[in-house]
Amino acid sequence: MIKTDIIVDLQYGDCAKGKVAHHLCKKKKYTHVLRYNGGCNAGHTIYHDGKKFVTHHIPAGVFFGVKSIIGSGCVLDPEQFLKEIKELEDGGIDVKEKIFVARNTHIITPKHKEEDGSGGKIGTTKRGNGPAYRDKYARTGIRAESLSELKPYLIDLYDEFSDGKNKNLNILCEGAQGFGLDIDWGDYPYVTSSHCTTAGALLNGIPYSAVKNVWGVAKIYETYVGLKKFEPNEPIFQKMRDIGEEYGATTGRPRQCNWMNMQMLEKAIKINGVTHAVFSKLDVLEKLKVWKVIDGGKDISFKSEKEMKNYISKALGKIGIKAGNIFFSAQKDRI
Ligand code: IMP
Ligand code: MG
Repeated sequence: MIKTDIIVDLQYGDCAKGKVAHHLCKKKKYTHVLRYNGGCNAGHTIYHDGKKFVTHHIPAGVFFGVKSIIGSGCVLDPEQFLKEIKELEDGGIDVKEKIFVARNTHIITPKHKEEDGSGGKIGTTKRGNGPAYRDKYARTGIRAESLSELKPYLIDLYDEFSDGKNKNLNILCEGAQGFGLDIDWGDYPYVTSSHCTTAGALLNGIPYSAVKNVWGVAKIYETYVGLKKFEPNEPIFQKMRDIGEEYGATTGRPRQCNWMNMQMLEKAIKINGVTHAVFSKLDVLEKLKVWKVIDGGKDISFKSEKEMKNYISKALGKIGIKAGNIFFSAQKDRI
């Protein structure tokens, strides 16, 4: 039997997927955690036992001794990967025989990083992701299985998930980036090079029939990093950025801010087949004492957090998300 829960980001990344993954790993008995897209452009900030860790490649399962896999939908920078393993070990995390890379995952080479070095015309994270995916699809790429330093970590996703060898599999698929950055559904060309949706998880040897819960993660306001103009010219967004500590975990760049867009949220929920929704960072708006969303192209203001939550819950109810499956969390809630 194979069961899967999937975590997807409903906006532009940085919505607290790492935190949700960490939380679910603690609550549920997963046999595997699988990172299913992206490379070290992602940055997951995780507080574990009071210590702060930032991982780029390695998924949250590793903190709980769960087998953690970098899937075939990802691209991998071996240097960064080995460095992260070392940092986890130095932080007291037992990673022995817990971290794996799919043999058919494509490699980010030094040349890819050099090519991506300026961030190009869209403002990438400069980690070589775009060039690595380009070479994958041009059929000129290198896969993990051809690097000797990765040999101890290699895994075949079919052997692991689908050939019946492993019984009672319970896999948590952890996405990177988000719907608004998805190569197909994002605001092209201001997108990343991978599939950030539920469909992207299935590309990693997961049969669709295995999917149980899809956890959609959003922030109570939106942020975006990159070169397109995103933030309205209003001083409140600088305050929001400072209170919300909206500076990139990977590049340190200031994230542009805006109110949450209800139409984008609805589209992301529907296309991803979300069953459970999590909204993070509610305390940022509480500190601003302003509660707003954009709905139908207009700013809608609320008098309180409670009023805003009711509005969101009602909108989600209309598209089939049960009230009991909607969660609100605060930035200060460290897990
Ligand atoms: P790339 O993924 O480095 O090619 O960058 C493409 C776009 O996605 C840029 O606008 C990046 O800032 C954005 N991006 C990539 N990864 C993340 C992430 O993990 N969080 C937020 N934005 C990201
Ligand atoms: Mg991030």
